[in-house]
Amino acid sequence: MVTTAAKPVKPNIRQTRLLINNEWVDSSDGATFETLNPATGETIAKVAHATAKDVDAAVRVARRAVETGPWSRMDAAERGRLMYRLADRIEQEAGELALLESLNCGKTIRDSRGDVAGVVNTLRYYAGWADKIEGKTVPVRGSFLSYTLRQPVGVVGQIIPWNFPLLMLAWKWGPALACGNAIVMKTAEQTPLSAMRVAELAVEVGFPPGVINLLAGLGETTGHAMVTHPDIDKIAFTGHVDTAKIIQKNAANSLKRCTFELGGKSPNVIFADANMQQAVEGAFHAIYFHCGQCCTAGSRLFVENSIRQEFVERLAARAKERKIGDPMDEATEQGPQVSQEQLDKILGYVDAGQKHGAKLVLGGERVGPRGYFVSPTIFDNVTDEMSIATDEIFGPVVSVLPFNSFDEVVERANNTTYGLAAGVWTTNLDKAHLYAKKVKAGTIWVNTYHVVDTTTPFGGFKMSGQGRENGEAALDHYTEMKTVTIKLGT
Ligand code: NAI
Ligand code: MG
Repeated sequence: MVTTAAKPVKPNIRQTRLLINNEWVDSSDGATFETLNPATGETIAKVAHATAKDVDAAVRVARRAVETGPWSRMDAAERGRLMYRLADRIEQEAGELALLESLNCGKTIRDSRGDVAGVVNTLRYYAGWADKIEGKTVPVRGSFLSYTLRQPVGVVGQIIPWNFPLLMLAWKWGPALACGNAIVMKTAEQTPLSAMRVAELAVEVGFPPGVINLLAGLGETTGHAMVTHPDIDKIAFTGHVDTAKIIQKNAANSLKRCTFELGGKSPNVIFADANMQQAVEGAFHAIYFHCGQCCTAGSRLFVENSIRQEFVERLAARAKERKIGDPMDEATEQGPQVSQEQLDKILGYVDAGQKHGAKLVLGGERVGPRGYFVSPTIFDNVTDEMSIATDEIFGPVVSVLPFNSFDEVVERANNTTYGLAAGVWTTNLDKAHLYAKKVKAGTIWVNTYHVVDTTTPFGGFKMSGQGRENGEAALDHYTEMKTVTIKLGT
């Protein structure tokens, strides 16, 4: 383990309350919950826990903002300018925001800086869209002029997870704001702090009251109140597939539009003709990036049998070198898992893998007496029906699955209820393109992994989600299409 940095770095915690109508308030019943530092398990701060009444207050002001407030009359270009200003302020505060993110979520300081840069890119990208969201004129039959308008959906409820707190905020605010919606967002109970700082900056740069409302709270309370609120028009959610099922059922009464981005068990396929060095590095990054707490984690590692032994040895040698420790330390490559709950879940799967007869090649242990650290873990000789091959573990645990032919591996890659991402490593152009065509997943990477850019659509096939985030595709989910038809002549 990397030792703790000589001087503990502590970001300023300026805000722990709820943002409703551009005012920071306590929850209506004064309730709070604790938010922890996953590197130590210690409490960082007590945060206001939004009640159903607070959700209702936020929805009312959001409704006013989107129907009659200055936001509803603002030029699209001006909306874009506000977003650019927010991106600029975030860029100025990048250092502090990265510290907050690492403190609360446990990601390494280097990864947090990367995430903040991603937030800035996302807001700028969607700021550019604000005045380019156009309707069409339609060649309708008869003596009419028909055209379409694209209008905001209205009040959008956004529920985000803890693995990329800032980036998930940006992915959801970007298209929502560009399209002129008003936002009620709930952060994950594990990681409320960095979003609060960004919301402060949003108020500072001049977003009108009610446009951005930020709540903290648990899923079953605050989240549930949002999902069942009759005046929220849409829910955008990122998290577990089982939570999405609950949300979809609860949203049915008001027939809310729902978009879901829900993890996976992504296949990462290494053919024998791949560049070995590049593929080892790629497989390593695919699973261990952010401790495996990544919806696209390359957790099913299919390795062609003829190269498997050497490949697994090289991967294990690489993983052994991984520097685990204090996320604030510049030298650290892997921080803690986010919570005790996640730590227990991961170690439970390690047990199951061993019981089911997979070969534990490396790791599988908690690291250190405090915080939620897990060593990089490799299982070999995994078979398709083992729970370590079927379930999203969300930890640094990779399952190596041997294969012998192209058709076999494609069939097995698709033999999952998920379909978020898939990787392939090969120097054969045919194999690469055929794999990309046949694998059922929203994102395919060839000789690379985890390249996610704000410009490209992102989302899942099958039970990995509904709808797409990022890119132009996200705009469809934040606008309603209206057809206007005018009689020409008498
Ligand atoms: P979760 O799906 O319970 O939480 C995600 C968000 O949903 C949080 O803001 C939470 O408060 C909210 N939520 C929970 N129950 C809700 C409900 N009934 N109504 C409305 N909102 C609700 O995920 P959790 O428990 O944090 O993690 C469990 C597993 O989920 C992880 O081990 C991982 O497998 C998966 N996960 C996937 C993510 C992804 O990026 N796709 C992100 C986080 C977790
Ligand atoms: Mg949960």
